[in-house]
Amino acid sequence: MTIIVTGGAGFIGSNFIYYQLQKHPEDRIVCMDALTYAGNLKTLKEAMTHDQFRFVKADIADRGAVNQLFEEEHPDIIVNFAAESHVDRSVVNPEVFLRTNIMGTQVLMDACRKYGIKRYHQVSTDEVYGDLPLDQPELFFTEDTPIHTSSPYSASKAGADLIVLAYARTFKLPVSITRCSNNYGPYHFPEKLIPLMISRALADESLPVYGTGENIRDWLYVEDHCSAIDLVMRKGREGEVYNVGGHNERTNLEVVRTILRELDKPERLIHYVTDRPGHDRRYAIDPAKIHNELGWLPQTRFDDGIRMTVQWYLDNQSWWQDILKGDYQNYYQQMYGNR
Ligand code: NAD
Ligand code: DAU
Repeated sequence: MTIIVTGGAGFIGSNFIYYQLQKHPEDRIVCMDALTYAGNLKTLKEAMTHDQFRFVKADIADRGAVNQLFEEEHPDIIVNFAAESHVDRSVVNPEVFLRTNIMGTQVLMDACRKYGIKRYHQVSTDEVYGDLPLDQPELFFTEDTPIHTSSPYSASKAGADLIVLAYARTFKLPVSITRCSNNYGPYHFPEKLIPLMISRALADESLPVYGTGENIRDWLYVEDHCSAIDLVMRKGREGEVYNVGGHNERTNLEVVRTILRELDKPERLIHYVTDRPGHDRRYAIDPAKIHNELGWLPQTRFDDGIRMTVQWYLDNQSWWQDILKGDYQNYYQQMYGNR
C-alpha cells in the first residue's frame, strides 16, 4: 500500500511515520509537508534513509501540487496531519488557520474524489467539542457531544471535520476521523506547554503559567495516538468518528510541577501570567468507542511517558536549541513579552 502522510515533518506526523515504518515495513510512506515554522526536516533524517520513504515539500492547499502527487503515487490511504496547530497563534493570526486547516482539507478531499482512494483519514482534536466545567468531573466528551468551538484554531478544525463528513455523505468518500486529546513526547515543538516548560526550566528561565494554572488537559503519549490512528485508518468503520484519549487528566500546574521534579528545578521558576483569551477549562475524552470496536488501549502511563519525554529533551538538545535560536525568539517576545 502507498500512504500519503501530510504534515509528517511536524510533531505527531513524524512520530506516526516512524511508527508506520516500523510496524508496516511493507507499506510505502510519502510525506507531504510545506515545512512551515513547525515542520523540521531534521526530524525525518532517519526516515530519509528508508527505501520505502519519500519526502515532498508541498502545501496541502496547493491544488496543482496535490493533484500531481496523487498522479505520481496513486495512494491507497491519505492521513491528514497537516495543520496550523497552536491555539495562541490562532488568536494572533486566524487567517492562515482557515486557509490550511479548512481549505487545505478541502483540496485533499477533492483529490480523493478525482483519483479515488481506499481511505481518507482526518486527524482531528478534542478541542472541537469546546470545554467542560472544572467542577463536574463526571462529564466527558463522547463522539455525540455537540461541536462547540472556542478558538479560531478549534473552529478551523471543526470546519475541516464537517467538510470531511459532508464529502463522505455527498460523494460517498471512504473517510474516518479521530479526535484526540493533548499529546506529548519526542519532537514536540517548544511553543507547546510541555516542551516549552522543559526547555525553559533547563535554562533556569521563568515558566509562564496562564491564569491560575487550574485548567485541565487529558494527556496522551504520542505513540498511543499513532497506534490509534493506525487502527482506525486500517480497520475503523467508514464515515465514523473515534475519540482518542487515555483518562489522564492533569491541571497545568500539576504538569509543570512534575517537570520541575524530574529536572530537579525549583518551583520558584513558576510565573503566573495573563490568561489565554477564551481559555478552555477542561478537556476529557471518553475513549469507549475505539476500545469497544477496535480494542485500542493506551500503553504508556503518564509518569513513564513524562520521564521518557524529559529524557528525550535532555538527549536531543541540539534539536530544540536550533529551533530556539531562530524566529522563535521574536515569537516568544511577541507572545510573552508584555504578559
Ligand atoms: P505541528 O504544528 O507540530 O505540525 C504540523 C505540520 O504540518 C508541520 O510539519 C507543518 O510544516 C505542516 N504544515 C502546516 N501547514 C501546512 C500546509 N499548508 N501544507 C502542508 N503541510 C503543512 O502539529 P502537531 O501537533 O503534530 O499536530 C498534527 C495534527 O494533529 C494537527 O492536525 C492537529 O490539529 C492534530 N492534533 C494535535 C494534538 C496535539 O496535542 N498536538 C492533539 C490532537 C490533534
Ligand atoms: O487537545 C488537543 C489540542 O492540544 C491540540 O488540538 C492542539 O493542536 C494542541 O496544541 C493542544 O492544545 P492546547 O491549547 O491544549 O495545548 P498547549 O500546549 O498550547 O497548552 C496546554 C495548556 O497549557 C493550556 O491550558 C494552556 C496552558 N499553557 C500553555 C502554554 C504554551 C500555559 O499555561 N502556558 C504556556 O506557556
